[in-house]
Amino acid sequence: MKSGSPGRLSLPDVSSLLVIDYGSQYTRLIVRRLRDRRFYAHLCTPDQARQAITGPGLAGVVLSGGPGTVAQSYDPGLIDDIFARSLPVLGICLGAQMLCHHFDGTVESRDEASEFGESILQVDPANPSLLHVTNDHRLMSWMSHSDYVATLGESCQTLAMTSDGYCAAFQVQDRPIFGLMFHPEVSHTQKGTEILAAFAGQVCGCKASWQAGQQNQRLIDTIRTQVGEGRVLTAFSGGIDSLVVGVLVHRAIGERGINVFVDTGLLRQDDLAFIDTIQAETGLQIDQIDAQDVFIKRLAGVSDPEEKRKIIGRTFIEVFTDHVRGLGPFSHLAQGTLYTDIIESGGASGAHTIKSHHNVGGLPQELGFELLEPLKELYKDEVRELGVSLGIDRQFVRRHPFPGPGLAVRVLGALDAQTIDIARQVDALFIEALRYHDLYDKVWQAFAVLTPLRSVGVVGDQRAMGYVCALRAVTSVDGMTAQAAMLPADFLTNITNKICNRIPQIGRVVYDYTSKPPGTIEWE
Ligand code: XMP
Repeated sequence: MKSGSPGRLSLPDVSSLLVIDYGSQYTRLIVRRLRDRRFYAHLCTPDQARQAITGPGLAGVVLSGGPGTVAQSYDPGLIDDIFARSLPVLGICLGAQMLCHHFDGTVESRDEASEFGESILQVDPANPSLLHVTNDHRLMSWMSHSDYVATLGESCQTLAMTSDGYCAAFQVQDRPIFGLMFHPEVSHTQKGTEILAAFAGQVCGCKASWQAGQQNQRLIDTIRTQVGEGRVLTAFSGGIDSLVVGVLVHRAIGERGINVFVDTGLLRQDDLAFIDTIQAETGLQIDQIDAQDVFIKRLAGVSDPEEKRKIIGRTFIEVFTDHVRGLGPFSHLAQGTLYTDIIESGGASGAHTIKSHHNVGGLPQELGFELLEPLKELYKDEVRELGVSLGIDRQFVRRHPFPGPGLAVRVLGALDAQTIDIARQVDALFIEALRYHDLYDKVWQAFAVLTPLRSVGVVGDQRAMGYVCALRAVTSVDGMTAQAAMLPADFLTNITNKICNRIPQIGRVVYDYTSKPPGTIEWE
């Protein structure tokens, strides 16, 4: 399967910033912070940057930090090309060191000069420039480097110093070129987002006008151009990403967009009802395949979670391929790859990776689709914004994430149709209660887990053995880290009683307070 995405970055029609990634673990935060302030920023590698800086609408460039040294990373050709276009430049950490070097300063490496962690900076009151957002000329900043600016070239002036007397920020005189030895993108740096926004707005002249919700027409036009007279297949998961993709494709090419949904038997209670409502509300035609029996049969007796995932992946591909052969031919396979998927899989380097969590990732090459990834510039919250602007009901847009292997990884150990059904019922009661008490939107993800443990209880006058199930609700930004949601004690008591009363196979309910790390969100 080859990627249908053009190698060239396609930037939306707003003035934008290019963030060149030299490999710092914080680089993607630069983009995030700028987009939070409604400035459109796009990540690219130094190789991609050569082409991207010639594109229209570019208002400024950020050179990120990175683990390399100036000697390894400095590329005079690229820096000259950027300056030849008179673009404002902000260098951060390694990026600042490259600017220092370019303008005849010196960067040295000395262990005793290493700066990691918080550092209070003294901002030059005579020339606060980009750092004017600080009021008292002191700035709590966060540093992470061992190379430092030893001397600045004649054309550069210091804007801030560390308490040890090292240069922490500088500007090339009378030019919109800045170097920061600290990381404005990390939350530990006071006013860091303001500094980035000041660079974007005041220095580069960008308007804070980026709104994912206003991108639908552009995305629809792009799909139309990319697909031409072709036909597009969307593997519909029931989640927001594939739903938004399906709606965009539908608006772009109408009936030539075909949506297929596989009922694995591992879905949540309202997933199927959700598909029906979506069809009614959006006009999407969703072709449903009932494959419950085959999934449950193949999973019977399997207790290793990775083995479960493999079986589900293989079965999905088989069922899906068999079905769509009869519907084809298709020129494109559309999927809801997000910006985080691209940057997490190193895709900022131009590589396109099929979303690893997507079951469609293993579709056979012979199907010959090109990939269509209309959401690949967007973060999850931006996809939600887009979904709302496409008229998708908020209750769908705000649904919690759900893993591809579904309830199979929420019934611990060996499963069968009955235990899956119990897990589904517990989950449904929990989610219904969260919605009723206005807690659903306050947590990032919530679900129930059925353990193979049985505990003793008393039902009526009888001793009875019942399953132990766990409720889990977490707060998170992106699922990479998470905290247990502190649900009210009376809510937990009530839902526990309700579950035990309504589902006789459950003997005990526990609540999971583990954060991630050290735990993961799912139990398997
Ligand atoms: P963990 O458990 O790794 O989960 O902390 C982070 C997020 O990823 C989801 N998740 C999955 N999604 N296939 C998926 O599509 C999977 O195999 C899978 N495992 C975890 C999980 O629900 C959470 O949102």
